[in-house]
Amino acid sequence: MYKIAIFASGSGSNAENIALYFKDKPTAEVGLILTNKADAFVLDRAKKLAIERVVFSSEQLKSGELVNLLKDKGIDFIVLAGFLLKIPENLIAAFPNKIINIHPALLPKYGGKGMYGDAVHKAVVANREKESGITIHYVNEHYDEGAIIFQAKCKISETDSYEDVANKIHQLEYEHFPRAIEGVLAP
Ligand code: GAR
Repeated sequence: MYKIAIFASGSGSNAENIALYFKDKPTAEVGLILTNKADAFVLDRAKKLAIERVVFSSEQLKSGELVNLLKDKGIDFIVLAGFLLKIPENLIAAFPNKIINIHPALLPKYGGKGMYGDAVHKAVVANREKESGITIHYVNEHYDEGAIIFQAKCKISETDSYEDVANKIHQLEYEHFPRAIEGVLAP
């Protein structure tokens, strides 16, 4: 059974959805939830789910200290679900093809530094896009550029606010992200 670690920086609704999905599955379990923000709501969700929590600093991430912790805990797969720091090369090297991310847009559009969460949805609305979507991809040393695993689209209407777009995107994420993870782990 795979032991998944989820990294999240904010609300963590995807982290919770993924943890619940794998609760009674033989393939994998979410064994650890990590965040770089001591006040992130994902910590409350992890507590409620009785999943071990870790708060770390960007220095611990950069120095490689986190690699040791993840190995000690028996983690063999990493999911980024609303995690906003860049993943350093030491972590990518320690978990080759074992780190995946979700991005709330149809990459390569609306990707790169500074493009996360509502900033993405505001740009999509400002550009009067007719559709947006989600991209699940492997993580490499460049923001949002790893090989794409899965994409799904939704329609955007002229009257949609960025909050409406965010809602549509979250629905797509809840529907597809856990199954995409399962597909990567047990193809
Ligand atoms: C999600 O929409 C995710 O795609 C996005 O942050 C949100 C986190 O929501 N990730 C990025 O923008 C990464 N570039 P959540 O905390 O409720 O799961």
